[in-house]
Amino acid sequence: MEKYFRKLALFLIFVVMGSFCGECRNPVLHRVGGGKNTWTPSINFTDWSTHEQFYVGDWLYFGFDKHVYNVLEVNKTGFENCIERNFITNITRGGRDVFNLTEARQYYFLCGRGHCFKGMKVAVDVHDYQAPTPPAAPFVVTNGNPPADICSMLIQLVLLAPALVCSFLFNYV
Ligand SMILES: *[C@@H]1O[C@H](CO)[C@@H](O)[C@H](O)[C@H]1NC(C)=O
Ligand SMILES: *[C@@H]1O[C@H](CO)[C@@H](O)[C@H](O)[C@H]1NC(C)=O
Ligand SMILES: *[C@@H]1O[C@H](CO)[C@@H](O)[C@H](O)[C@H]1NC(C)=O
Ligand SMILES: *[C@@H]1O[C@H](CO)[C@@H](O)[C@H](O)[C@H]1NC(C)=O
Repeated sequence: MEKYFRKLALFLIFVVMGSFCGECRNPVLHRVGGGKNTWTPSINFTDWSTHEQFYVGDWLYFGFDKHVYNVLEVNKTGFENCIERNFITNITRGGRDVFNLTEARQYYFLCGRGHCFKGMKVAVDVHDYQAPTPPAAPFVVTNGNPPADICSMLIQLVLLAPALVCSFLFNYV
């Protein structure tokens, strides 16, 4: 019986912590093109980016041969027409380069030196992370007339919870 209550207390602690941690999400590193060395002309980057979810704080990883390719952030016009002149940011470093997606907006990247015309460009749509809505309460009352035993169970649970959490903490901390 005591074991059961400990499990319940642990569960309740997770529930409480979970409700405080609704905004939490670890940043994701998106390998552009899907692999370690896939900033190359043979990849369909439109196809790749439509299958990814990008959120503020995530990172892009460009893996490529720096002697052949580069990575430049450009605006929409530059992206659509493969214009590398007046680029916004030069991301090219050693060929294993990362880029922090710090804003919720559309980002555009291309490879200069003529490779953009062969399809080496990618647009990335970055969103603010919305925490998923919390799951519905475990007891769903559909007819507005809950059975008495569920009600008393709920009341017991609410009254017992703080005591259980305390006893759990005293036992384990
Ligand atoms: C790339 O993928 C997109 C979406 O899947 C598709 O519409 C498009 O035709 C593809 N482009 C090429 C050049 O294959
Ligand atoms: C990357 O972006 C996130 C979210 O804006 C920010 O919290 C973090 O400090 C940035 N990291 C670096 C190294 O710029
Ligand atoms: C976008 O980039 C192009 C080409 O680099 C440049 O000519 C144009 O002025 C830029 N547009 C804006 C709104 O910054
Ligand atoms: C981008 O930066 C790299 C490394 O600093 C440099 O070698 C390269 O010339 C730059 N590219 C452009 C187009 O400015």
